[in-house]
Amino acid sequence: MRQIVVLLSLALILSISAGKARAADDLRVAAPQALQDSGLLQYVLPRFSLKTGVRVEVVEEQAQADLVLTNQDAGTAVFQGPDATWSLLVLAESEAASRLADWFAGEIGKRTITSFEVDGSAPFTLPKTKEAKVVAISFEGDAVLGKTLSMKMCGRCHVVDPKDRMNDIGSTPSFSVLRAMRDWDRRFQTFFALNPHPAFTQVEDVTPDFPIDRPSPIKPVEMTLDDLEAILAYVSDLAPADLGAPLQHQ
Ligand code: HEC
Repeated sequence: MRQIVVLLSLALILSISAGKARAADDLRVAAPQALQDSGLLQYVLPRFSLKTGVRVEVVEEQAQADLVLTNQDAGTAVFQGPDATWSLLVLAESEAASRLADWFAGEIGKRTITSFEVDGSAPFTLPKTKEAKVVAISFEGDAVLGKTLSMKMCGRCHVVDPKDRMNDIGSTPSFSVLRAMRDWDRRFQTFFALNPHPAFTQVEDVTPDFPIDRPSPIKPVEMTLDDLEAILAYVSDLAPADLGAPLQHQ
């Protein structure tokens, strides 16, 4: 009886190690046949392996794969062409999988993809960036409302109205100082993405939710794009701070 148990566990150990026959650094990437036929992967993946020592096998079945290249909107878009945007999705996290994902996102990976040619033309390009959501924000908002909103939402930290210095937090630029900057409009249009605001600002339909493990450390600033347009209209009417007259020649 004891012998059977030993044999069984030996068989178990053997089958486990057989399953792990491929090195820890090997990766399997699933890709649809059409993408495999394009030749891109045969061009790109060996270059990645050469650089990193991580071997990559392309497989058909997603079930066996560590990562998948898909034309569905999942994962991170890595390249585009001929008539689809391709995304890389990590199915099984590992150091090697992150290296491949990082490589695709990095300069060398991008250059490798765009340098792949068939008959003198490059069938694959980089995906159009989705990252910075482009929001068209006009200056036609309600400036009066904008002032009220600015006082309420931004006045906790910024001096909004030059006549009101109550909430002056030393290192935080006042609105009139910001207004004096040449690119003040771009700064205000994107303020929710500029530090320190992302940690506590939510613009409806624009910003992602706070990560569950990192809730806003302070009472969050919650606003709509209409609110931001109103604030922009107010700031556009604001007199820029005099940051010092240019030097005069005597
Ligand atoms: C909790 C404090 C806080 C609140 C609330 C806040 N800000 Fe700021 N904001 C700051 C600080 C601090 C800076 C300076 C960051 C720096 O210099 O790196 C700043 C900088 C800015 C800048 C310049 C950003 C850049 O990088 O050029 C803009 C524009 C701005 N804030 C707009 C707003 C608007 C609009 C609101 C309200 C809807 C607001 N802020 C609410 C703290 C705050």
